[in-house]
Amino acid sequence: MTYPYQIKTLAQYHEVYQKSIENPEAFWAEIAENFVWKKKWDSVLNWNFTEPKIEWFAGAQLNITENCIDRHLATRGEEAAIIWEPNNPEERTRIVTYNRLHKRVCQVAQMLTNLGVKKGDRVCIYMGMVPELAYAVLGCARIGAIHSVVFGGFSAQSIADRLEDAQAAFIITCDGAERGNKNIPLKSLIDDALIGNKLVKKVVVYTRTRTPVSMLKGRDVWWEDEMEHAEHQVEKNGVVSFPAEPMNAEDPLFILYTSGSTGKPKGVVHSIAGYMLWANYTFLNVFQYQKGMVHFCTADIGWITGHSYILYGPLSAGATSLMFEGIPTWPDAGRFWEIVDKHQVNILYTAPTAIRSLMGFGLDYVKNKDLSSLKVLGSVGEPINEEAWHWFSQNIGKGKCPIVDTWWQTETGGIMISNLAGVTPQKPAHATLPLPGVLPVLVDENGKELVGNGVSGNLCIKQAWPSVIRTTYGDHERCRTNYFTAYPNMYFTGDGCLRDEEGNYRITGRVDDVLNVSGHRIGTAEVENAINMHSGVVESAVVGYPHDIKGQGIYAYVIFEGSHHEESLTKQDILQTVSRIIGAIAKPDKIQFVTGLPKTRSGKIMRRILRKIAEGETANIGDTSTLLDPAVVDDIIKGAV
Ligand code: PRX
Repeated sequence: MTYPYQIKTLAQYHEVYQKSIENPEAFWAEIAENFVWKKKWDSVLNWNFTEPKIEWFAGAQLNITENCIDRHLATRGEEAAIIWEPNNPEERTRIVTYNRLHKRVCQVAQMLTNLGVKKGDRVCIYMGMVPELAYAVLGCARIGAIHSVVFGGFSAQSIADRLEDAQAAFIITCDGAERGNKNIPLKSLIDDALIGNKLVKKVVVYTRTRTPVSMLKGRDVWWEDEMEHAEHQVEKNGVVSFPAEPMNAEDPLFILYTSGSTGKPKGVVHSIAGYMLWANYTFLNVFQYQKGMVHFCTADIGWITGHSYILYGPLSAGATSLMFEGIPTWPDAGRFWEIVDKHQVNILYTAPTAIRSLMGFGLDYVKNKDLSSLKVLGSVGEPINEEAWHWFSQNIGKGKCPIVDTWWQTETGGIMISNLAGVTPQKPAHATLPLPGVLPVLVDENGKELVGNGVSGNLCIKQAWPSVIRTTYGDHERCRTNYFTAYPNMYFTGDGCLRDEEGNYRITGRVDDVLNVSGHRIGTAEVENAINMHSGVVESAVVGYPHDIKGQGIYAYVIFEGSHHEESLTKQDILQTVSRIIGAIAKPDKIQFVTGLPKTRSGKIMRRILRKIAEGETANIGDTSTLLDPAVVDDIIKGAV
């Protein structure tokens, strides 16, 4: 497979970029010709950002799994699609060839059909990072069911909320998941999530950890049994087949829940054709993947990064994608480097929080590993500080690997602003230039567009790109108000951004009430709601503060009344409550008990003040004259933790 649309020089980038902005329809139609369609499109693009309504390749039909699997079988059927590295390094690595992937995905498609799953049904996938998770995702796509993967770190309550919101009737899970020295009882969490649920008809359970599980008659079935049965159906005389459902270009491919500044997480919906093109195009151009390379994205498939750069991007390109079940610090802090060495990884795509954490363990873990296979390094999820950038570049890339700093979001489907490895210039801590098709603008708080270089403002995107969010599941109005009303006819990212004198973009972080903790998006309102569920809590306010490793930490100010527990124990109780309601990833790093919160006369909490205090500021708190009770601020400063 050649990749005719890979950009190879800076001059070519400028030329291609120009073309993509001047005539997006012609540009994307040409790229779309490189994919397998069951029926070609009637029109390339119809869009407005007011409703919003975005349609790419209307009238076309395709199935994404034919593009990710079937079309590679003739030329690279016996090459590795997925290299799976288990949590425990003593366990056997699994190599999944494209032929094997095809067979397993056909089996899953058959299994789901046998269980009554139909096109358009929502299937919740709550699994650890095992190859069967990839089969499950692609099996859904094969029959046109909409997958909604929920990260294995979320609590039963979070799963219940997502099941309800997506109106999902089917679940695929594991008995448990191994992560480091922890064993997460996934099926048991599903059982808790299903208390009172009337919609879920079938739960498929894959055996990973051999943790005892309760299997409910009529509802719960074993993956192994169902897959064996399906195998006999899809394989005849050594030939494997399961027809890929013809899907409309704009049919939804998946729902992925992500946090916003208000309310519960929202179900971001991506549609098939646009998302596929974007995942593929960005994968090939940003990382400059060449045939035969091993691509290792360290994200979990429970997040968008895993969807786009472990599964759909690499597989649509016929690449070899490495999937890792464990964590970077187990059995020791050399695990990533050991994996690079063992599998001769060429592209390593990870998060600044992991880099900072591994930096802290020193170079002993890097020293005896062969990292010479590495060609490209990548960063995603949060701003990368210069110190981490240089450490990564020098000690891991040995000064010879470009680092791509990729800015994007769940809602954008794939990478939006990034240098192209070795092709366009890199600049530490800068995402640099927009990808073809992306028209970023900076606006001030009044919505005025800031032109020229050397300016900073709120980052918006002015033109529809193929994988822009289509809707928030079940609530289109929420999609409109969240992203498309702040600035008319623009998609608002929620990020602040600087454009330097050379036109490079540098993301400065969220300007709304969304936190980014270890690269995970968490809404302050979500954490507050969870804290407020504790019986003794009257009210709480949550803000972020700079954290050396996590990027941002969570600081909670809590008004608490009555408990027989002493203070330290009560704090533990609150953490336990947050873990139960959301998951351990949302646990506050610091809790301060306060007697009041700084509120304006209209009752609005002034988070600006709380943020300053959380940052350790004691003197320059800013104007407090509009507060109902300015004395509250002094008390909070005195009690800061
Ligand atoms: O604030 C930006 C930050 O992560 C947010 C998106 O989070 P999520 O939807 O979970 O997707 C993460 C993986 C794409 C953004 O609004 N962010 C992401 N990448 C970068 C970044 N901030 C700075 N630099 C980046 N490269």
